[in-house]
Formats: sequence, structure tokens, C-alpha cells
Amino acid sequence: MMTANSESDVVDILTADHHDMLELLRRAAQAPVAEERRDLIDTVIAEVMRHSVAEEMIVYPAVEKHVPNGKDEVEHDKAEHDELVDLMKRMEDGDTADSGFLDLLHEFEEKLDHHAHDEEDEQFPKLRAHVPHEDLVEMGEKVEKAKQVAPTRPHPSAPHSELFHKTVGPGVGMVDRLRDKLTGRHTG
Ligand SMILES: [Fe+2]
Ligand SMILES: [Fe+2]
Repeated sequence: MMTANSESDVVDILTADHHDMLELLRRAAQAPVAEERRDLIDTVIAEVMRHSVAEEMIVYPAVEKHVPNGKDEVEHDKAEHDELVDLMKRMEDGDTADSGFLDLLHEFEEKLDHHAHDEEDEQFPKLRAHVPHEDLVEMGEKVEKAKQVAPTRPHPSAPHSELFHKTVGPGVGMVDRLRDKLTGRHTG
């Protein structure tokens, strides 16, 4: 996995995340043993949760503020995150030994790939065009911090922004991590 150095801006970090998440998913699809697939899927779910919650808290507000038509772009992106969360919930509950599970995995891979390309081809270049480099570097640091406390499990009924706020808050992330530990789920 790529780690951020001081020169990385938020776009470098998020783009590396996309690459890592898709790579993990491909490994999960090819895993010969159901238990190994389960481990890889749980890791992918945790990584996608961290990534998308951090985007919604740190990055999408900047897109809304600085990019022309940013509000529409963010609305579209959040709707895609919700679709990903629904699929991840099914992946969390599903039996990785089941033959239908691979179809679910491929559906998720297509959606994630599409979403990542949307961001990399549309929103990220616009963000770089409208926000100074130093601010993008600082935003990257905030993203890394947010990922550390973000939830690691899909919660389809709660919007990501709500998951992160005080009431449900980083607490959801801690409860997820505790459950990960108790169930031996390897989520990094
Ligand atoms: Fe996203
Ligand atoms: Fe993303």
C-alpha cells in the first residue's frame, strides 16, 4: 500500500486509495478459499468505509464550495456512496462460499471502478484547478486522520456525514473497531 509523504496532496492520497481498494477486490475475487475471501472482503469494506466517510467529511465540502456546479457533483457522488454501502452490507452478510457471492463482488467492483473514475476524471482535476496546492496537502492530512476514526462497517440507514458527527459520531467507528476485534475481523 502506498503511504502519503509530505508532498502528497489529497488527490494523490485518494487516487492511491482507489487503486488499493480495487486491487484488494480483485484479489478477493480470485481467492481460492472462502475464508481467505472473507478476510479480504472485510478489509475492502473497512477501507471503502474509511475512504468514503473521509471524502464526505473533508473533500466533498471543498468541492461544493470551490468547484462550479460542485453541489450537483457532490450529490451524485454521495448517491453512489449510498449504493456502494448497500452492496457492502450484502457482502458483509453474504456467504463467501456461495456461488452468487462472486456476482455480488463483480457488481460492487464495477460500481466502485465507475465511481473512482468519475472522481479521478471529473471532480479531482476541478478541485486541483480551484484550490491552492498547500490547502490540498493540508486536506490530505485531515483525510488521513479522519480515516483513522471512521466507521469500518457499512451502516445503510445512516448518512456518512451523520456517522461522523458528535451524536452518532466517531463513536460508531470505535464500536465498529471493537466489534472487529471481538470477531477477529482483520480490518487494519
Ligand atoms: Fe467517493
Ligand atoms: Fe474516492
